[in-house]
Amino acid sequence: MKLSNATVFITGANRGLGLAFAREALARGARKVYAAARDPSSVSLPGVVPIQLDVTQSDEVAAAARACGDVTLLINNAGIAHTGGFLSETSLDSAQRHFETNVFGPMRLTQAFAPVLAHNGGGAILNVLSIASWINGPLLGVYGMSKSAAWAMTNGTRIELQEQKTQVLALHVGFIDTDLTRGFDVPKLAPEEVVRSALDGLEAGASEVLADERTRQVHAGLSADPAVYLQAISR
Ligand SMILES: NC(=O)c1ccc[n+]([C@@H]2O[C@H](COP(=O)([O-])OP(=O)(O)OC[C@H]3O[C@@H](n4cnc5c(N)ncnc54)[C@H](OP(=O)(O)O)[C@@H]3O)[C@@H](O)[C@H]2O)c1
Repeated sequence: MKLSNATVFITGANRGLGLAFAREALARGARKVYAAARDPSSVSLPGVVPIQLDVTQSDEVAAAARACGDVTLLINNAGIAHTGGFLSETSLDSAQRHFETNVFGPMRLTQAFAPVLAHNGGGAILNVLSIASWINGPLLGVYGMSKSAAWAMTNGTRIELQEQKTQVLALHVGFIDTDLTRGFDVPKLAPEEVVRSALDGLEAGASEVLADERTRQVHAGLSADPAVYLQAISR
């Protein structure tokens, strides 16, 4: 999938990684970039088309798919991350909120846009996942569970969408310097660097991008003995 002449739809495009995706898509010659946001007035990047979208609202997702029938690349970027593990009184509520946004959000978007992509020749879906799909710990336990589920959904939809020639790419990545990690005292990647790796992989036809060294180490450690996920994530 090439970005030049693509029509791109990005969720959570008003800030953070989503904003970096929008900038880079324009720089690579996208024909049109729909910048979806819960509050479209918070989209300030020149050259994009702001779209109202809360990914937890099925009616808004359906309306966006109807309004944006020319999309060839869907980037499921919007996400939330609250710290915490599984054993506190608030863990179930937290899990439900994470699943609504990080799992059911991209699932709704995938269902709504799959026919649009098919109509436009197949196109691609890029799902923003995380190193926490594979390894977590008390800091990001519930968040990690949602990203593991989103990883499973990504792998399943890739197979289901093969017939209509839709490329489905999973982006796995460690800590990025955005609002989401504000206050985390860890080394962080620049959003621009992550987006370049992701879109290079997409343009090369990849199904998976591991955007940084720590993520590649964790991936390699999945089949090590002892497996990497038997320990908590460190940095
Ligand atoms: N930062 C990291 O270290 C890191 C690492 C791995 C993966 N990721 C993933 O990268 C993606 C982007 O995160 P980020 O780092 O850019 O975080 P961020 O700066 O906090 O931005 C999150 C974005 O998601 C949007 N969003 C949240 N809930 C939404 C909803 N219900 N409907 C529509 N939009 C919603 C936010 O919109 P509002 O402005 O309206 O809140 C915002 O645009 C997420 O999927 C995250 O899990 C991040």
